[in-house]
This record gives sequence, structure tokens and C-alpha cells, in this order.
Amino acid sequence: MSIAELEVMKGYIRLCDDGFKMGWHERNGGNFTYRMTANEVDACRPFFYPNREWTSIGITVGNLAGEYFISTGSGKFMRNIADNIDDTICIVEINREGNAYRIVWGLVHGGVPTSEFPSHLLNHSVKKVTTNNLYRIIYHAHTPNVIALTFVLPLTARDFSRVLWKSMTECPIVFPAGVGVVPWMIPGGTDIAIASSELMKEYDTIIWAHHGIFCSGPDFDTTFGLMHTIEKSAEIYIKALSCGQGIRQTITDDELRQVAKAFGVTLNEKFL
Ligand code: 13P
Ligand code: ZN
Repeated sequence: MSIAELEVMKGYIRLCDDGFKMGWHERNGGNFTYRMTANEVDACRPFFYPNREWTSIGITVGNLAGEYFISTGSGKFMRNIADNIDDTICIVEINREGNAYRIVWGLVHGGVPTSEFPSHLLNHSVKKVTTNNLYRIIYHAHTPNVIALTFVLPLTARDFSRVLWKSMTECPIVFPAGVGVVPWMIPGGTDIAIASSELMKEYDTIIWAHHGIFCSGPDFDTTFGLMHTIEKSAEIYIKALSCGQGIRQTITDDELRQVAKAFGVTLNEKFL
């Protein structure tokens, strides 16, 4: 059996491939990390390389000490992952202090995990605590419609949450907390990592202005579905605006509350 045939790898690869086919991953755009379960690590262990060097992460994530992540490689193209996993992705182990990592499998021709690795780890660290160990994924994509909206809407959580909730009826059920927004920042830096992780305490989705979406979830389906729902909602809003007449009617705040009640979710009241 090859490592690509393991269930966890099949799920990881499918998300990458689906994201590329949606048009969210031009070139090396976007990245994706998955925090593995102990059983998944055991299944992959026969493929691990022995005794690799540790590399400093640049930050300390104490509650991720000893964890293993599957990560896209920096500069690697999502388009190529399904056909060439051992050159494009890697499995990374975090050391006992939570301040260094080593590649235990993958990136056979060299390379490092995504340049957003510190951002991913800081956000995994937050989600591990706030979801009581449930969330395992951080997924970043260059979603064109959401990026376009960051040129026309005020860059606030309130403005984006309201527009995205109201552009497709079932959106409030999918992201009842709304979405966070960070202003334009340098990709791969510590500032964007810290700003996102602060917002991840409250939201599962952060919009990075003029850049894309950074989102989190418990499993491949839920996280891909969240990304897909938000990007589709943005697309519908842009299509409606593109008709050139402005928005004639929309879902009211009271109707948002009715949907939330009918589906048993609690909306972030500060946006209503
Ligand atoms: P990486 O290739 O290093 O993952 O960077 C892509 C990206 O989208 C950075 O935000
Ligand atoms: Zn990016």
C-alpha cells in the first residue's frame, strides 16, 4: 500500500484538487494544514524518514507539542498535488517544546511547509483550545469573489457578515458567528498570524483583504463546504450588483433571525 491510499491522505488530496478545480489556487496560491489523529499518525508511521533535523518555527505553540500535521509545501501548486504527493506536501512533527518542526515524510525533492505555517500553527493552537480538540484544519484559498468584495465593502466583520449572510438563505446556518476581517497585511508574516489568531477565537472564517480566505473546521467536508459557501455567497452578491440597478430587496434582519431559530443556530447578534 502507498501512503496515498490511506483514508486521511485521500481526504487531504481531494480537498486540494477540488479547491484547484474551483479556481481558488492559481500557481502556488493557497495552503492547507491538517492536524492528524494518533491513529492516522500510526498508519503513516511506516513511511516516515528517520532522524531529520529540527527547524525553528519562530513562535512557540505549547499546546501543539508532539502533534503531527499534513501541510502543503511552500511554492508548490495545488494543481500538482493529486499526481505527485511526495513532491508537493509533507508530514511535519512538532517538537516537545512546541517551537520547532521537522519533516518526517514528503517534499522528497526538498522544500519547506507553507510560508503561512506560523499563521496556521497559531490558529490551530487557538482552535484546539476553543473547540476542545475538535477542529483539525486550517485552509487558505485565493477565492476571487471574496477578494473582489474587499475592494468595495468596508473592511469590517459587520459589513462582510451581513452581506454574506443575506446573499444566500442558508448562509446564517453555515457560519452563524459571521466572518472576521483583517486589513491588507504582508503574507506569511507574524502580524497576519497574530491578527488572524485573535479573530479565530470568535470566528471560523477570516477574510484577508485583497488576498483571500483563511478558515478552520473539524474535517475536510465541513471546512471545504464553509469555504465554498462563503465564496458562492460573495459571487451571488457581485452578480446581483453587476445587474447595475443596486439591491432592490434582500433578506431582512428579522428573516435572518427566523432562519436561525428554525435551524437551531445562534446568530452573532452584534451584526443584527
Ligand atoms: P505558499 O506557497 O508558501 O503556501 O504561499 C502561498 C500563499 O497563498 C501565501 O499566502
Ligand atoms: Zn495566499
